[in-house]
Amino acid sequence: MHRPLDRTPAAPPRAVMFLSALKAEHFDKVKRSGADICLIDLEDAVPCAHKALARARCLEALQLHGASCRFAVRINELRSREFLSDMQALLDCAMTPHMVLLPMVETAAEIDIVRALFGAQDKFPLLFALIETLNGLHQVDAIAARADGLLFGAADFAALLGTDISWENMLHARQQIGLAAARHGIVAIDTPCFDLAGPELLQRECRGARALGFHGKAAVHPQQVEIIRALFTPSQEEQARARAIVAADALHGGAIATVDGQMIGPPFVKRAKRLLRELGPLEE
Ligand code: GLV
Ligand code: MG
Repeated sequence: MHRPLDRTPAAPPRAVMFLSALKAEHFDKVKRSGADICLIDLEDAVPCAHKALARARCLEALQLHGASCRFAVRINELRSREFLSDMQALLDCAMTPHMVLLPMVETAAEIDIVRALFGAQDKFPLLFALIETLNGLHQVDAIAARADGLLFGAADFAALLGTDISWENMLHARQQIGLAAARHGIVAIDTPCFDLAGPELLQRECRGARALGFHGKAAVHPQQVEIIRALFTPSQEEQARARAIVAADALHGGAIATVDGQMIGPPFVKRAKRLLRELGPLEE
């Protein structure tokens, strides 16, 4: 029987904020937004003609901020020439990012290759796989077995599928990604919400993704961070109920008990403990 390994950190990241490497001078704003992970993008936010400049700015920001926040970098995909330059730059840099996000991942071997390249230099960033192709989704379980986290990229996925990024159209992919991450006990982060006109769609997507097992969501604007963090944090009612379940379990020595008229047993206790653990040391 497969048992989830649960490699999720005690307090999984909720908001992963993207910033183009070309705008690295705004990095302080990203840090101040309260994002759990501040991610510099070398891929789609940087036009081909500016990749070298972007890389230089990313390295500058990494050296300046890498020690004071969870600094992440989205490099270019493994099948591109830019990937080689990105890796060379990160391997030569004295500072190692907290996390490296690999786009367009389609095989588990891609994670192994990148991990081996870093490992040979005694560098051990977390490796998150961006699942955003049909092949990537097809292989998501094998990829989840090798990666430290999954991030869903709805924009590329929808483009390949020939559809739009509505909740209904992306539901199947989200379910697969949430399940694969849970099966391998790793972090799942939902795709960014590109609607900056108001918070409604972002709020709906946060609630829906959390229900599918996602721990957090990518942000593309600092204003999204607070909403994401709030909606991926268990509500006061959920926390109170989890504490009541754990207390009832302890009181009854692990026997079946009732809380607020509902029967609880081991699976409910497990869920309650996990919810409290994921609050992390600060909020607990
Ligand atoms: C992100 O990279 C996306 O394609 O949505
Ligand atoms: Mg993409």
